[in-house]
This record gives sequence, structure tokens and C-alpha cells, in this order.
Amino acid sequence: MNAREIVSGVSALGARDFDRRLFDELIPLPDGTSYNAYLVRGNDKVALIDTVDPHKTGVLMAQLESLSHLDFLIIQHVEQDHSGSAPMVLARYPNATIITTPKAKPMIVDHLHIDPQRIRTVENGQILSLGGRTLEFIHAPWVHWPETMLTYLKEDRILFTCDFLGSHLATTELYGREKARVYEAAKRYYAEIMMPFRAMIKGHLEKLARYEIDIIAPSHGPLYDDAGFILDAYKHWVSDPPANLVVLPYVSMHGSTQAMVDHLISALADRGVCIEPFNMTVTDLGRLASTLVDAATVIFATPTLLVGPHPSIVSSAYLVNALRPKLRHAAVIGSYGWAGKSVETIVGLTSKLKVKWLDSVMVKGLPDGATFKALDRLAEAVATEHQNLEDKPARRLHS
Ligand code: FEO
Repeated sequence: MNAREIVSGVSALGARDFDRRLFDELIPLPDGTSYNAYLVRGNDKVALIDTVDPHKTGVLMAQLESLSHLDFLIIQHVEQDHSGSAPMVLARYPNATIITTPKAKPMIVDHLHIDPQRIRTVENGQILSLGGRTLEFIHAPWVHWPETMLTYLKEDRILFTCDFLGSHLATTELYGREKARVYEAAKRYYAEIMMPFRAMIKGHLEKLARYEIDIIAPSHGPLYDDAGFILDAYKHWVSDPPANLVVLPYVSMHGSTQAMVDHLISALADRGVCIEPFNMTVTDLGRLASTLVDAATVIFATPTLLVGPHPSIVSSAYLVNALRPKLRHAAVIGSYGWAGKSVETIVGLTSKLKVKWLDSVMVKGLPDGATFKALDRLAEAVATEHQNLEDKPARRLHS
């Protein structure tokens, strides 16, 4: 795609990746993604903000073909899907200087083998004048690497945010007009990438309150010309308390665990608790992550394989632990053939979660009446813990 004007002198560049179906070789991308870059022209100087993933370098270089001179390449984040084309940009513009944070400088050298002489660092709040246009750099560590920064273009009130506030969504629209689609993509993105850094993000959102922002320009997905849409969504996602919602990752091999899952779903629903089960043999991990944004409780349901949990449940427990959602309670249910240590293994895999463990229900062989009564007690305990929580909120859409 060609460059597109956001306002006079500021253009959106970059590449749409409609075919990409997996990110980090882990998370499904149902709607592809994009790698956005931005060109800002002042009266005296020209700056490029971010680049694109190396496999799309050709698209960016074609967009830059008519640009004879570049003064600054602003690298907001070193991960290669944004910085990976920097060596080619620097080769094309031998007088261009990289602008980045002090933490990012050695990382750029390590990851891209760029000459450190070509890198200038900026402190938090530092200004760079392009002549008639002013860029302010806002350090924002841990969205989602330690070296990240945002860039605020004062005169046009545009905030460039790199990964922060972005979405994996490939679209030809400059702005996301289908709000429900954008909301879901941005929430999935938050869940997968940003949720582990919830506490830091709260602080960054507070810092941004003093800026007047008309347009938010992330480096994945469409731009926002209604900044409140995505800022309000983030404020909600990072805030407590969680919703009256149980997430239930499960696997069943011979039907015993499935019977327990089915019973528990009914028992929770009867008590007014919302529940979202995920069969981990066919689950889209992005959907699971997105649901964890709001959930108050996780219940892992597993058969026993080689005396431990099923490997798909091990994987889901590891992921839940890594994403660090605002869960408050957890439990394990399942079955075993003759013996097993599934509960201990799952508790050990989720040590970063600050949860209260409710009584687990593990049965030898087929579940029976006593098993179902134990599941009813678990459902009752969850309902009691959830009694002051609100149901999962509807999407908060501005328009
Ligand atoms: Fe989109 Fe952290 O890179």
C-alpha cells in the first residue's frame, strides 16, 4: 500500500500483513496484522518513526522512494517487527541519526548490529524540533519491553505509541471504523502482550492524562481518531475488580473429566456465575487470553497422563501464569486412572498468580454422585466468592 496522509506533513507508512496467522509462533492472528511507520516533515528536518518487519522492508523502501533526505529515524521499541528494517533505512540515508531511549541504544546494537555512533539517546520529556513541528519523547518502559517510548507530536496532537494501544488487525482503513472489530482485536492484543504489565500500564495511562490527544497512531493495526475509545478501554482492562466470570481450560481423554466439566458448568450457571469453557485441544489461545482479562476465577480441568496433568493443560497453566491476569481464585478438577499429582503440578506452574485456591475435585475413574456433590460445593464456593462482582461488562463503544 502507498503512504497516506494523516494531516498535512504527517503520513502513515508501513505494511499490511493480511496473511499472517501466527505471532511469536504462538498466538493466532485471525485478522492478520500491520507494521506501521510514520513520516513527520518539519520545516527543517524530517523524521521517520519506526520501521517494519524485515520481511516487509521492500514495502517501506518503496514508500520512501521519493524521499531524498531523512534526518532522524526514531526507534520507539527494539523488537524486530518495528526496528528490523532500520539497517536498510540507514543504508539508504547515510546522514540519518537514530533517536531512541538510553536503554534501547545497546539493544539496537545487539539486535541489529548498528554502529552506536549513529544512535542519539533522549531522556523522558526531551523535545526534538523539526522546525514548526515538535516531538516530545515519553519513556514508557514495559509496554512491553524495558526500553520503550512514545512520541507526542505537539502541534498536531498525535501520539505515536508503537505496540502500546495497538491491535493485530490488517485493514485498508486508516482509522478503525468497525468499532466492535477494533475493540476485540485491541483487547486480544492487550491480553497477549500487555496484560502482564498491568501495573506499569496504569501509571502510563495516568501520565498521558496531561496530554491533549486527537489521534493515536500505534505501530500495529488502525489509528484512532477518537483517542478516548482506546484509552477508556485500557483503563477498564487494567482496573479492578474482575468480573463475575470463570475461565475453564479443560481436556478430557475418556469422558470422565468432560462429565465433570459439564456438571460444573451447569452448577455455576445455576448459581448465577458466568463461565467460559475452553477445550484446550482446539482452543485459540488469543480467545483464552482475551477472556482472562475480565475473569475472577480460573478452574483447570484435566485428565491424568503419566501421573501429571495433560500436556495441553500444562501449557495453558504456564500461559495463564505468564499473562498474570487479575484472577482472584483458582481450582483444579479432573480424573486419574490409579494415582497422580495433577493438582500439585498445576499449583506449581501458576506460582505468580495471587489467587486463593479453592478445594480441588479429583476422582479416580468415572465421576459418581460424591464427585458431583463435591463439584456442587466448588460451584457454591465460587458463587460465594463472586457475590459482589458484576457480570462481564458489555463492550464499551463510543460510537
Ligand atoms: Fe510489535 Fe513488541 O513488537
